[in-house]
Amino acid sequence: MEGRETSCAMIEEEIAKTEAKHSIFEDEVRKMPVPVCSVFIQKDGGVGPASFKETDIVLPLKDPGRIEETFPRTLGRNRNVVLEAEAADSFTPVTGKKVGVLFSGGPAAGGHNVLAGLKAALGKENTLVGIRKGPKGLMQGDLMEISGRDVQGLLNTGGFDFLGTDRTKIKMPEQFEKVKETVLKNRLDGLVIVGGDDSNTNAAFIAEYFEREGILCSVIGIPKTIDGDLALGKLLPISFGFDTATKIYSELAGNLSQDAASAVKYWHFVKLMGRTASKITLEVALQTKPAIALISEEIAEKKMSLDSIVDSVVTVITQRRLKGINHGVILIPEGLVEFIPEMRTLIYELNKVLAEYERDIRDLPTLKNKQEFIYPLLPARSAQLMASLPDDIEEMLILGRDEHGNVKVSQIETERLLIEKIRYRVSELKRHPKRFFGKEDGKIDATSEQIEKIKNMSFSTQSHFLGYEGRCAKPTRFDAAYTFLLGLAAGSLALAGRTGYMAVLTDFDKGGRVLALPLVALVTTEMRKGMEEFVIEKSLVKTDSPAFTVFARNRERWAQEDRFSSPGPIQHWGPVSKQIPISVALEQGYEEYRDFDLGEDRSLRLE
Ligand code: FBP
Repeated sequence: MEGRETSCAMIEEEIAKTEAKHSIFEDEVRKMPVPVCSVFIQKDGGVGPASFKETDIVLPLKDPGRIEETFPRTLGRNRNVVLEAEAADSFTPVTGKKVGVLFSGGPAAGGHNVLAGLKAALGKENTLVGIRKGPKGLMQGDLMEISGRDVQGLLNTGGFDFLGTDRTKIKMPEQFEKVKETVLKNRLDGLVIVGGDDSNTNAAFIAEYFEREGILCSVIGIPKTIDGDLALGKLLPISFGFDTATKIYSELAGNLSQDAASAVKYWHFVKLMGRTASKITLEVALQTKPAIALISEEIAEKKMSLDSIVDSVVTVITQRRLKGINHGVILIPEGLVEFIPEMRTLIYELNKVLAEYERDIRDLPTLKNKQEFIYPLLPARSAQLMASLPDDIEEMLILGRDEHGNVKVSQIETERLLIEKIRYRVSELKRHPKRFFGKEDGKIDATSEQIEKIKNMSFSTQSHFLGYEGRCAKPTRFDAAYTFLLGLAAGSLALAGRTGYMAVLTDFDKGGRVLALPLVALVTTEMRKGMEEFVIEKSLVKTDSPAFTVFARNRERWAQEDRFSSPGPIQHWGPVSKQIPISVALEQGYEEYRDFDLGEDRSLRLE
């Protein structure tokens, strides 16, 4: 008994040591070496900043008139020329500079390594300052110095919790004034904004404002978002966080396929994060080969109605049942509702109403009051569609908007909406087989014996939403390297006084190429909440792209029999530790997706 108590106490002591982010795993990943591109290797073998030179790549403006009018100074200064990092030994040493960094928008794995990369670029002669709580903290002047010791402890760990983040959009003159106050008061020479499309649009505006006000503070963006929709062909293959998130989701989706085939009774409806683009869903489909994966962009292109989506899913469910398979996994992109033509029209009409009456609608106490107010203002078809939706979905469509005017699709239970509709259609199919079975086009070919089988078919479902669990995991080896290098690039640009650029990295298969893209070249105009807004265009799935083509060529086989695969957990060491997203490798034309090359591994000492 005494012996048992002693061993229990020993284990308890061990457990206590793993508190506060010191699990055995977290302590090991902190020591994990990170590959470093050759441009950042200094003469003495250490890791430090690189200098940037102009390339002959000049990016075209997306909406020339409006952009020239809005960003004349940054445009005049950068001339939309892409910069490229060159050998580190050409960097002229800089001392005494102070650079601030903030996280903006949703978390993505690798944020802490951006801080480590910035610290490595700035070295001991310059100061890195963290801005707490994202853009809001920037306006409030909530700053703290980041030490080498801090970043050493954060290395390769997940989350944005060291600084925090938020989604405040800086757009009003008084907000810009507050930013100016913070920058001047804290004598910042540089401001690094780690964010997605909306946050980098903010960065472009702040850069222009500083130029106009004569504030000597470089503004540099870093491409972050698990959604993968901040991308630009060969120049920006992907944002950071996508690799980690898709690997987490693929592990879980693979496990669900395995469970479905084991328990043989459930259809798992899995909604996957990705506010607009279906890039995450496409990647998870390529990794796990599910029975069905809906791709929003294809649905919009084919102008598929909600009913026809339901029909296409029910057809696969029935065909599989005829083969004796009554289970499977269906992947649903988070942003689907905005791509279904009639829903898109509804959201557009609703936005126009909101642009005029948002305050009045917000003041109405009940959903019923809101409905009574809104329905007469909508065209009849949209009002009808809206009335046919479950209450919670209607509520989210009306006022569930973020600071940037986006519908909060992560809170719309699309997977449940589909389950409801599909369940109803399956019951119709059982009740009215003649409507669904037959030799004619669009009908399912089946013998009368098979139809009888279908009539007795059970249809059991489970719904899942894989989203938040993928954003703060420990970064994959790729994201750990990518973010550290982006930090190094952004730090180098800030030290050199460059402004209005996004630090990016490409050629993941050839040692990495470090570039800086003029932010203004990425900005365009878009209608949001019924008003024209400047935005960075989202990169969506293209149905003629290599990644989609590979998916489309194979999905029928994955639908007709169980051919799923289960990629397993993220490996920081081991056979698949150097794998990058399959879709990225296909889009970039790499020969391999299992062995990225971003330079030589370095054990980092940042204290
Ligand atoms: P970012 O583009 O800011 O990185 O955020 C993306 C995302 O994770 C989406 O996929 C999702 O729709 C959204 O954030 C959820 O936002 P919130 O954290 O505000 O619930």
